[in-house]
Amino acid sequence: MQEALREAEQRFTAANPKSLARHRAAQAHLPGGNTRTNMYFSPFPLTIARGEGARLYDLDGHAYVDFLGEYTAGIFGHSEGRIRAAIIEALDGGVNLGGPNQWEAELGRLMCERFPSLDKVRFCNSGTEANLYAISTARAATGRTHILIFDGAYHGGVLSFVKPSPMTAPFPFILAQYNDLEGTATLIARHRDELAAVLIEPMIGSGGGISADRAFLAMLRDETRQHGIILIFDEVMTSRLSRGGLQEKLGMVPDMTSFGKYLGGGLSFGAFGGRDAIMRRFDPAETDSFVHSGTYNNNTLTMAAGVAALREIYTPSAANDLNARGDRLREMMNAVFRRHGVAMQMLGQGSLNVVHVHGRPVRRPADVANDPMLQALFHLEMLERGIYLARRGLSALCLPLEDADVDRFVEAVDDFCAVYRPLLLDAETSRIYA
Ligand SMILES: Cc1ncc(COP(=O)(O)O)c(C=O)c1O
Repeated sequence: MQEALREAEQRFTAANPKSLARHRAAQAHLPGGNTRTNMYFSPFPLTIARGEGARLYDLDGHAYVDFLGEYTAGIFGHSEGRIRAAIIEALDGGVNLGGPNQWEAELGRLMCERFPSLDKVRFCNSGTEANLYAISTARAATGRTHILIFDGAYHGGVLSFVKPSPMTAPFPFILAQYNDLEGTATLIARHRDELAAVLIEPMIGSGGGISADRAFLAMLRDETRQHGIILIFDEVMTSRLSRGGLQEKLGMVPDMTSFGKYLGGGLSFGAFGGRDAIMRRFDPAETDSFVHSGTYNNNTLTMAAGVAALREIYTPSAANDLNARGDRLREMMNAVFRRHGVAMQMLGQGSLNVVHVHGRPVRRPADVANDPMLQALFHLEMLERGIYLARRGLSALCLPLEDADVDRFVEAVDDFCAVYRPLLLDAETSRIYA
């Protein structure tokens, strides 16, 4: 394995001298040559020179099929004409207007119409900010302090529970285990008087494509309602999984939801919203109103792009088609793994999927436990075959992908399994093949 990885890294380094030079030069002013931790991978990240449709081109001139889709924000691909036209129209009207503009209320209307939990919504600039606001709103609205979150979850740069981090925002958090119905119910009962909110991603997206059990979510809904705790769904990634997000697909309505990624048409975006009884406190005319300011909350480019995105592009039928394509991709991948008898699996829902380099059941982030060397080998081998996805195996489909692109991804994985099968057999299957 070590040898295979070393060779793959050598081939990667030899093929990407310009990316390597740029990475080294960037280290002079950006720590690690980086301003976004999850962009880094060893031996060094590729520098992406440009994108077109569902293709990416790196500095050394290689072309990739974009299966990362900018960690779900890039659902429209790189050349969507209607988004471009909306941005240019906004640009031509002056960028920083310093007042309400003609798009923000329409984007609010389009979102409230779509997502079952939204009576009212407010905009910000990232998913992290959306979650910070959702948490702060829950604390202010309930007069309580604590937030129950799940071990291994990711809700933003300063809201990461993937491992203990000194960068985490200093809220009093209570850590529960994902899909642990009884343990979580006990924690809620024990802390019910101090709990302002339960924050959960209804499918853990980039952390592994781990779906929450319906019964587990139903318990959270019942217990939070009973104890006056605000249930927040982080749908920053999962809102793409149907027209009305994963909440609509599940038929489950939280009190508040946080959003981000593609809903701003591919520009910086965040939003949080929920029941009118909670969100009305943001009305500045109310005597007891909460403050929510931010220079770029209603920035014209994002608002205009978001309106075009929801009104014209990510329509209910586009959402259905993209998620059906993702379901097919996952089925095809898992069929390839079964055929080769390798210990790999693709988990997820619809257009949001994660490849794992083991075959064990994954019910919570601690179960992910992918071998980092095998994960690196898989990733570098995919890049070599022209498939761009995240080091941790995340793939998020974008609209301009075609069936032939999906087939190419499946073929690349098929080839990887054929080449590296001896490294990928689990104890069970290697006994069969011995
Ligand atoms: C579930 C989830 N919540 C929040 C965030 C943070 O969003 P942003 O990167 O826009 O701050 C992410 C980002 O990947 C995410 O996956």
